[in-house]
Amino acid sequence: MIIKSLEQLNSISKKIADKVSNEDCIYLLGEIGSGKTTFSRYFINYLQKKEETEKTDVLSPTFNLLYEYEIKKIKIMHYDLYRLKNIDEIKQLGIFEEDIKSIKIIEWPELLKEKIKDKIEIKFRYTKNENERDITFSGNGKWKGFKLDAI
Ligand SMILES: Nc1ncnc2c1ncn2[C@@H]1O[C@H](COP(=O)(O)OP(=O)(O)OP(=O)(O)O)[C@@H](O)[C@H]1O
Ligand SMILES: [Mg+2]
Repeated sequence: MIIKSLEQLNSISKKIADKVSNEDCIYLLGEIGSGKTTFSRYFINYLQKKEETEKTDVLSPTFNLLYEYEIKKIKIMHYDLYRLKNIDEIKQLGIFEEDIKSIKIIEWPELLKEKIKDKIEIKFRYTKNENERDITFSGNGKWKGFKLDAI
């Protein structure tokens, strides 16, 4: 699906946020600068607004590896695994070991092999136009066959 602008990305993030629940995983794939953090920011800020909590900064977790957000009963763990080069380093993060239910948004998830019940993968690709992206969805569990007909 072609996303022609940031506004369209925002509206897609809202549609996904309206469907998300507390144990879902969102894997974000695509080259550097393709839009993974921008999607995450729109997604998190939308849920903050919807839950009538204060909108916060949503920074890239490239260096911290993880930023956490508590939005009333919703907990979001936003990871960026780009700097981790092997699965042992990733395992130390304990991404799937917590007891507390959370929505996990994971940039650069390529090394993860876990089987996850409800997962959506969003892949961002550049197009010839600077502010445009081509995004594709795949998923399993409740996200199997997920499609957006119109933006
Ligand atoms: N339609 C669009 N969708 C997404 N991003 C866009 C679009 N048009 C322009 N951009 C710009 O592209 C940049 C995307 O950067 P972002 O940090 O989200 O990428 P990233 O995929 O998270 O990169 P990294 O792999 O370094 O974490 C932003 O500056 C954003 O404003
Ligand atoms: Mg990023």
